[in-house]
Amino acid sequence: MKIRAVRLGFIVLAVAIASALFVSSGMGAAKAKPKGDPPELIAKGKALYAKAPCPSCHGPEGKGDGPAGKGFPADHKPANFTTGVFKFGGDDAKVRESISKGRPPYMPPNPNMKEDEVAALSAFVRSLGPKKP
Ligand code: HEC
Repeated sequence: MKIRAVRLGFIVLAVAIASALFVSSGMGAAKAKPKGDPPELIAKGKALYAKAPCPSCHGPEGKGDGPAGKGFPADHKPANFTTGVFKFGGDDAKVRESISKGRPPYMPPNPNMKEDEVAALSAFVRSLGPKKP
């Protein structure tokens, strides 16, 4: 009788430990999941940005200080991505739209750019803003 009780206690304990391990490992996996855009996507966007005509207007560091933008009117200056403020919307969908469809009359559209390239450029320009706390 006593032995059976001890054995039962052991089983209960073993189950409790196993489920605790299961829960904590599950939570660990959730924490490890990257928040925001994956670094590889941002890096791909950075490389594309440098190759594309973007820097001529938005500047090499995305500060909106490229030579081609100098003559643009004050209310249509090339966006300074380091502010993290997006006139046309700063979520991924809006930024992709800005890149592929353009924002007339000064931001040119990129109709032939591939979907994954637009996604990478979007991730990159959004990554230039101040880090959120
Ligand atoms: C000929 C100059 C020019 C080039 C080249 C250019 N842009 Fe722009 N871009 C602009 C201007 C000007 C604006 C702001 C338009 C306005 O305010 O009317 C803008 C706006 C944007 C916006 C929206 C910003 C906001 O505040 O919502 C994004 C995103 C953007 N550009 C990304 C890019 C990317 C990525 C490239 C390269 C593929 C690129 N641009 C190439 C001139 C340019």
